[in-house]
Amino acid sequence: MKEQHYSQPEPIAMARRDWPSRTIEKSPRWNAVDLRDGNQALPDPMTPGQKKRYFELLCEIGFKEIEIGFPSASQDDFQFCRDLIEQNLIPDDVTIAVLTQAREHLIERTFEALRGVRQAICHVYIATSELHMKYVFGKDRKQTEQIALTAVKQIRELAAAMPESDIQLEFSPEEFTDTNLDFAVEICDRVIEAWRPKPGEKVILNLPATVERRMPNQYADMIEEFIRRLRHREQSVISVHAHNDMGCAVAASQMTLLAGADRVEGTLFGHGERSGNVDLVTLALNLHYFGVDTGLQFKDIEGIRDEIIELTGMPVSPRHPYAGELVFTAFSGSHQDAIHKGLRGRDQLSADFKAWKIPYLHIDPADLGRRYENFIRINSQSGKGGIAHVLETDYKVRLPRALLIEFSRHVQTLADRSSREIDSRQIWDLFNRCYNRQEGILILDKYWPRPNHREPALIDGEVHVLYRGEKKVLRASAAGPIAAFVHALRELPLPSFNLEEYEEDSIGDSAEAQAITFVRLVDRENRSWHGIGFDQNIDQAAVRAVVSALNRMLEGEE
Ligand code: KIV
Ligand code: ZN
Repeated sequence: MKEQHYSQPEPIAMARRDWPSRTIEKSPRWNAVDLRDGNQALPDPMTPGQKKRYFELLCEIGFKEIEIGFPSASQDDFQFCRDLIEQNLIPDDVTIAVLTQAREHLIERTFEALRGVRQAICHVYIATSELHMKYVFGKDRKQTEQIALTAVKQIRELAAAMPESDIQLEFSPEEFTDTNLDFAVEICDRVIEAWRPKPGEKVILNLPATVERRMPNQYADMIEEFIRRLRHREQSVISVHAHNDMGCAVAASQMTLLAGADRVEGTLFGHGERSGNVDLVTLALNLHYFGVDTGLQFKDIEGIRDEIIELTGMPVSPRHPYAGELVFTAFSGSHQDAIHKGLRGRDQLSADFKAWKIPYLHIDPADLGRRYENFIRINSQSGKGGIAHVLETDYKVRLPRALLIEFSRHVQTLADRSSREIDSRQIWDLFNRCYNRQEGILILDKYWPRPNHREPALIDGEVHVLYRGEKKVLRASAAGPIAAFVHALRELPLPSFNLEEYEEDSIGDSAEAQAITFVRLVDRENRSWHGIGFDQNIDQAAVRAVVSALNRMLEGEE
């Protein structure tokens, strides 16, 4: 190990560690702190109107606890709190929380903001790390504890003076993860005692990773050990509040849930100071993936994402888990192929694996209101699986394998040339340009095959074509309409060819469904020429496909 440049908090001593072998079985309580921790970190804080809409959105998603601001620190937050209460904007089952420092005049002002509220959480915090106590505030542990207890008593008295309001206490030892654990336990137990909870009442102990200075497993260790040492566990709700300085806030929160945390604070898309707070969208949807009913609804994740972008003025990365524009999109050929096969065989896979499982997709995009169809996109990294998927889902056309392999090369050339993603319409146009060649050296005017009068097993007909600009009428006769057509074409001075493959399909299933026919001709040098034809009549689609393939052959188009 090289010499330590940064001072790291000590891992705590654990005689026993249970959390690594647990699983998350139930949802935590959620507290959305977007309007406080999130808003205070926005380059352009939200306007009152934007905050109201944000609050409504959080309620629509299903949050029952919402920290709405720091009323004693900002007149805007004070007014917002008043507006919510006076305009009766808080649903009955939602509890607002307000943050305050442990200072007398700030607590008083906080309670002015709360006047008339039905239920609320008064969230008081004080820094308990040596770094903060000694170097920021010039206090020792005793003095810090005293300030906290004085504040809690004041809150208790102010709450008692508002009997029409149900006020809960939340206490945060700020920089918990950089705080001596014994001291954190001691101050929290003393806070609970000072609050004197009524029977059944609990104090929320919010234990924040104010700055992410530890690995997620160490945060979990601290939570497990904190719970073990806390005397008043029964009267407490253990809450976690992870910031994301090392990018591990989601992992850290999950591990703290294993360690026994009951409640999580965070924000949608992780807005918050510096690298932000834990992202509740990712965390809640991870839990949803584990089979936990979180009580939160992200059925229209794109709508939520777009609204949050608009309200906060902050972008959401296209790679943001669950919500990013690209997270259910596959560009790589092998991924596209696997997804395509998985989606096509979805029912069988679900039966075999006893639940939803698809290669390269860990969650069903439909749970988030997203559709499969857009998920395969084509660029120079893509392969035939993706192209097949686009043609099948957007145009209901399933290509024979040989044609798919050949067409993929055309797509690849186009993608390489444009160096950009190419969309489904461009693929379809390219497909038609390459293989549907009705205008060329050979142009079909008409061909109506009919059974021969004397020998009904035979098909007769006249083929009217323009060959190298000259009108020709050719006699068709053979056992089937396509064979008869090919037979007629032999009257033209064409290079020799054989019709090797012929496949037909229908596009759509209404009465107006079109037929599509794929043919493959092989010339004397054993080269293949694919062609396609469309028509409502299968025979007409087939002869058009032959015309397409011949034109390609005559024009030497690979
Ligand atoms: O990150 C933090 O410690 C906070 C406290 C005020 C809870 O936001
Ligand atoms: Zn915070």
